[in-house]
Amino acid sequence: MAAFLFLAQLLFLGPLVVAADTETCQQLRNATKGNFSVQVIPRMYQANTTYQVTIQNGTNTTANESRALYVLQVLSPWNEPLGQWAEGVSTANCSSVDTAILNSTQSAANWTSPGTDVSSVVIRVYIIFPEEPAEFRDLTLSRAPRPTSPPSTTRNSVPTVQGSSLFLAVLQLPLLLATSTLLS
Ligand SMILES: *[C@@H]1O[C@H](CO)[C@@H](O)[C@H](O)[C@H]1NC(C)=O
Ligand SMILES: *[C@@H]1O[C@H](CO)[C@@H](O)[C@H](O)[C@H]1NC(C)=O
Ligand SMILES: *[C@@H]1O[C@H](CO)[C@@H](O)[C@H](O)[C@H]1NC(C)=O
Ligand SMILES: *[C@@H]1O[C@H](CO)[C@@H](O)[C@H](O)[C@H]1NC(C)=O
Ligand SMILES: *[C@@H]1O[C@H](CO)[C@@H](O)[C@H](O)[C@H]1NC(C)=O
Ligand SMILES: *[C@@H]1O[C@H](CO)[C@@H](O)[C@H](O)[C@H]1NC(C)=O
Ligand SMILES: *[C@@H]1O[C@H](CO)[C@@H](O)[C@H](O)[C@H]1NC(C)=O
Ligand SMILES: *[C@@H]1O[C@H](CO)[C@@H](O)[C@H](O)[C@H]1NC(C)=O
Ligand SMILES: *[C@@H]1O[C@H](CO)[C@@H](O)[C@H](O)[C@H]1NC(C)=O
Repeated sequence: MAAFLFLAQLLFLGPLVVAADTETCQQLRNATKGNFSVQVIPRMYQANTTYQVTIQNGTNTTANESRALYVLQVLSPWNEPLGQWAEGVSTANCSSVDTAILNSTQSAANWTSPGTDVSSVVIRVYIIFPEEPAEFRDLTLSRAPRPTSPPSTTRNSVPTVQGSSLFLAVLQLPLLLATSTLLS
């Protein structure tokens, strides 16, 4: 009986939770760029790594801070959602982006990068105060330089050499023409 009541409650509450989530998602649309601080540790992108995202100072407002929501997303350079929020972080599906939603008692969440290498990711943090437009900040994590860097410098120098010999060839062309005119 208790189990049945519990199940009934779940079924009943389910749609309510979804509705609240979509409302939060909609509030993100009109967000403007904010000036609060966000800290992400570590600072460089690596596959299979857990990052802690902390909202440090969203406090510069007259609004009631205890009713703020922090909304976090991680996007690839192609604006696709990436990775996973830690277990226990409440999430919503905002336009197919797995979105972490924290209340004001939490100011940090852990996110784990996927097993694939990407050149960079954008960590987007929104703050929503009731009756105020949402604000957001973007933090970019770039991929850590590879430990085997020497080959990349060799590769880089090749186009430069080709470029300069082309440059020389262009310089020499009129000279050659002039020489051939003189000789004839
Ligand atoms: C977003 O802004 C548009 C017009 O700029 C307004 O009609 C709409 O209600 C706003 N949405 C939210 C969720 O504030
Ligand atoms: C944002 O904050 C920094 C210091 O935290 C300040 O120097 C800068 O002027 C602020 N920018 C705006 C637009 O308020
Ligand atoms: C947060 O911002 C206030 C001013 O808006 C400043 O006094 C305070 O030192 C800041 N706290 C941190 C942790 O940056
Ligand atoms: C906080 O807001 C006030 C007024 O809106 C502004 O003058 C001040 O620079 C802001 N401080 C920070 C740290 O953004
Ligand atoms: C802020 O909101 C909380 C919870 O809704 C409430 O308990 C508190 O009294 C409010 N504080 C102010 C200054 O309005
Ligand atoms: C998120 O919602 C969209 C439809 O709005 C759906 O197509 C997609 O599969 C959902 N994604 C997840 C991870 O639930
Ligand atoms: C904030 O979220 C945590 C974890 O989801 C929850 O335990 C807590 O009751 C929430 N606090 C408020 C004021 O909603
Ligand atoms: C994130 O993970 C680290 C290491 O496992 C842990 O110390 C920290 O408490 C976690 N942070 C949150 C907000 O769960
Ligand atoms: C990440 O972890 C998965 C599973 O452990 C592994 O298959 C994958 O190769 C790893 N990716 C990188 C870039 O190390």
